[in-house]
Amino acid sequence: MNTETLIPRIMKVNTEEMLMDNIYKPFLMEVKEIISETADTLTFKLQFKDPEVSKNFNFKAGQFAEYSVFGEGECTFCIASSPTRLDFIECSFKKYGKVTSALARLNEGDTIGFRGPYGNYFPVEEMKGKNVLFIAGGIGLAPVRCVIDNVLDLRNDFKNITIVYGARTVADLVYKEELKQWQVREDVKTVITVDPGGETPDWKGEIGFVPAVVEKLAPASQNTVAIVCGPPIMIKYTMPVLTKLGFNDDDMITTLENRMKCGIGKCGRCNIGNVYVCKDGPVFTYTQMKELPLEF
Ligand code: FES
Repeated sequence: MNTETLIPRIMKVNTEEMLMDNIYKPFLMEVKEIISETADTLTFKLQFKDPEVSKNFNFKAGQFAEYSVFGEGECTFCIASSPTRLDFIECSFKKYGKVTSALARLNEGDTIGFRGPYGNYFPVEEMKGKNVLFIAGGIGLAPVRCVIDNVLDLRNDFKNITIVYGARTVADLVYKEELKQWQVREDVKTVITVDPGGETPDWKGEIGFVPAVVEKLAPASQNTVAIVCGPPIMIKYTMPVLTKLGFNDDDMITTLENRMKCGIGKCGRCNIGNVYVCKDGPVFTYTQMKELPLEF
């Protein structure tokens, strides 16, 4: 498969050119704040220790990074904060293995390693002048939140903005503060849903799975880009709903994570077919996704 022709709309970044010496050498970052999102999900607010690095650092919405705990290893997450807000880098992660558990044991003031940004990104520039529909499930809101805040910081450049976010239960909703802020904005339509049975007695949002809620909402597909991130099962059932609503495959964009390790196309762990998710992605249009041997 020729990835140059496979990925015509989303620019690729040559990450190796961005690194001067040892490509695996991390920058040092201080954990400035730890936010508990759910019982097993945390958000770190990070700041570069070297002011010069901080001054020169830049990235685009959708790119990811490698975060390391010294003596424990590295793990990969998207950058969850917006490139329009560079005072801090934020990442969110679920505790599920050795490195994320080690990260979760850290305290504010501790130091971690950071290398990146890596990968391609959402075509925010191309989205200007269009409606944007954000659809996210669970911790999949992390990469979407980066684009939402990016778009909201440039609000006048976009038409209607709709956010549909779902989690299994009320307790599983992440970024509760941001959700409230988006909900009170008159220039954003925000719909939050939990799976049937996941509601609390005082829940005022929707109850239902994300694809069904999107279908009921029936957002306009004309001149609209849909950004969809979440569990594979959510993506699997949401994409056909968008197709039914009239969205083009090229205007349905998602981000994939696939056992990434080195982040720079060296280890081969992230390949799907002939594509390396770390270098050719993680952002893919539905047109591109359909060419990949994905197991949903
Ligand atoms: S993560 Fe190593 S090649 Fe992609």
